[in-house]
Amino acid sequence: MSCSHKIYVIIPAAGSGSRMGKNSNKLFMKIGDKTVIERTLDAFNNYGNIYAIVVTNEENLEELRRLQNTNYPFIKSVILGGNSRTESVSKGVDELANIEDGPTADDYVFIHDGARCMITKDVIDNCVEGLADNKVCVAGVQAKNTIKVVHDGIVESTPDRSTLYEVQTPQCFHYNVLKKSYGNAKENNIEATDDTALAELLGYKVAIVEGSYSNIKITTPEDIIFAQGIS
Ligand code: CTP
Ligand code: MG
Repeated sequence: MSCSHKIYVIIPAAGSGSRMGKNSNKLFMKIGDKTVIERTLDAFNNYGNIYAIVVTNEENLEELRRLQNTNYPFIKSVILGGNSRTESVSKGVDELANIEDGPTADDYVFIHDGARCMITKDVIDNCVEGLADNKVCVAGVQAKNTIKVVHDGIVESTPDRSTLYEVQTPQCFHYNVLKKSYGNAKENNIEATDDTALAELLGYKVAIVEGSYSNIKITTPEDIIFAQGIS
């Protein structure tokens, strides 16, 4: 899909993968012949015309710089993250102002978890389309299961399933709105696992675009088996 806006992706990859139960970053586990992070990078690199910023930790900095210098010149910068995902993404947002050929106000910025390595071109297309009509959008899928609101072990209510979406990444913004959203989060010490929630807090409308049930986040060991099954 051709797009007159420049497109950037911030890839948070600085976690420790504690729910995977290993002592090393889950992003370097293999699915088939490639690591999780390589699969994520391939999806955006192969899409074309996207610049990336990868946020990593001390342990993986050297390996990511090596990947940048060998297979992935579309990575403009590899930087160190923080103690939370919000902090890591926030550093990535700040870094956008430092890179050569950085974004202008209306350019597009996606935030995409390094751990969501099954992302496809279709989902990226949907995100690009979503930002043509909206300042903020996020990939999501309709909830497959009935979800209950529960307090102290007792069901309080059962929301209508057709109104419930599970959001994924990419979480997508026009650059000026991303800066405002993360500026506000920093000022008020707000933590969010969902970046677009930070734009909601400022009153922006967030559109849902179609994600994919395959666009899973590699979190626990069975996710590796599932990803191997669909790769
Ligand atoms: N992440 C990050 N910086 C952190 C924490 C997480 O950049 N301080 C990244 C992870 O590397 C991952 C994404 O954010 O790509 C989503 O986080 P999650 O799936 O929770 O990964 P981890 O935090 O590594 O795993 P866990 O929560 O099980 O420790
Ligand atoms: Mg985590």
